[in-house]
Amino acid sequence: MAQLERANFGSKLGIILATAGSAVGLGNVWRFPYMAGENGGAVFIILYVICVLLLGLPCMISEFIIGRHARSNTARAYRKMSNGGPWTVIGYLSVLTGFLITGYYAVVSGWCLQYIYASLLGRLHGDPQYIRQYFSTFSTDAWKPVLWTVIILVMTHVIVRHGIRDGIERASKMLMPTLFILLLVIVVASCLLPGAGAGIEFLFNPDFSKLTPDVFLGALGQSFYSLSIGMGCICTFASYYSRHTNLSNTAIQIGIIDSVVAVLAGLMIFPAAFSVGVSPDSGPSLIFITLPNVFNQAFSTMPIVGYVVALMFYSLLSLAALTSLISLHEVSTAFFQEELHVTRNMAALIVTVSCCLMGTFCSLSLGGVESLSFLGKTLFDIFDFVTGQVFLPLCGFFTCLFVGWFMPHKVVRDEFTNNGTLRGRFFSVYLFFIKYVCPLFILLIFMHQFGVI
Ligand code: PHE
Repeated sequence: MAQLERANFGSKLGIILATAGSAVGLGNVWRFPYMAGENGGAVFIILYVICVLLLGLPCMISEFIIGRHARSNTARAYRKMSNGGPWTVIGYLSVLTGFLITGYYAVVSGWCLQYIYASLLGRLHGDPQYIRQYFSTFSTDAWKPVLWTVIILVMTHVIVRHGIRDGIERASKMLMPTLFILLLVIVVASCLLPGAGAGIEFLFNPDFSKLTPDVFLGALGQSFYSLSIGMGCICTFASYYSRHTNLSNTAIQIGIIDSVVAVLAGLMIFPAAFSVGVSPDSGPSLIFITLPNVFNQAFSTMPIVGYVVALMFYSLLSLAALTSLISLHEVSTAFFQEELHVTRNMAALIVTVSCCLMGTFCSLSLGGVESLSFLGKTLFDIFDFVTGQVFLPLCGFFTCLFVGWFMPHKVVRDEFTNNGTLRGRFFSVYLFFIKYVCPLFILLIFMHQFGVI
């Protein structure tokens, strides 16, 4: 009975935009450009696209298969499909990962909102020293970042509580096209700057001498993070897909959209940065310190354009963050709704309130509340490390093993081919990758992160 009542996305476009909204996030606009910058530009991009296609997409399809077959939240999906066996733990771990990420992702998303506000008031003008000071004063402030974290979580709450069609799907149909338009306008403004050609060349002219195992593993890790794999988001969204959705085509479309946005983000940042002779650096400093300076210098002769570009850039970042937060929030909302048998409103409220608390502690840990640091790491860094570097690869690894080795092949094939109505030409290739290739490479990233190889 409960299965029949389960919500569904209303259209194919809704499915693509909502899932792409989860994938397209701060990872594309912020992490991808600096990873590409540090790892040789064009070479990194080529490897990244290969990793998305060969390793990311099979993992995404596997999460689609589990989610759509079980038609329930991620924890219950693994429990159902393994008849309550030990694999259930992976389902719970995915939900926990999604839940914990929501807390700290919301903090950075809140910073983006503050920067919309600051650029609107023209507060991002000044010399580089001032901009650096502005960021450190703001991010270590006790209450301001907390306030913005709460605001973005409340926005997410309002969308998620309205359900799949009226909330998530409708919001994605508005937010994603806006995001694309902003992105394209900024790319054009950046590429028209004098000296922008050097940035474009850096992005598209590969220098294969820069190819190292580190670059490869960096690209692989980035592709998994960027596709939102291993945190229950993809699996939860797929539980709302229709029986007729072509899973492999959907995965390919998401992979293309996600990669195009990442490359466009590079085209937005590198030409502008190169035109003023700044090298894009890593960490929060890229988007919150380096870029305001780049915009100020690059558009110094046309300050109004600089003002508009900065405003558009932070709006774009906030939209990207919001659509990802929606999917993260939905993982836990679906979990609480179905496991605690409460209404959607109540489930969403539980998630929002607990994420506000988590976000508050993460944010305060950056502001010098020393008791929120452990072993020299802030709570914020610990959340980032544990979820991104430990839980995410673990969930990805075991999901591959689960689908490749444990689930009956007939079930996997039926989902892949929509009960035989699709030809499923690539099914055996998919199965080979999910059984052997993907787990092996995920293991490599994991060991690399801990310095074992
Ligand atoms: N894929 C998102 C990004 O690129 C990050 C994310 C992680 C989103 C986990 C949802 C879940 O930023």
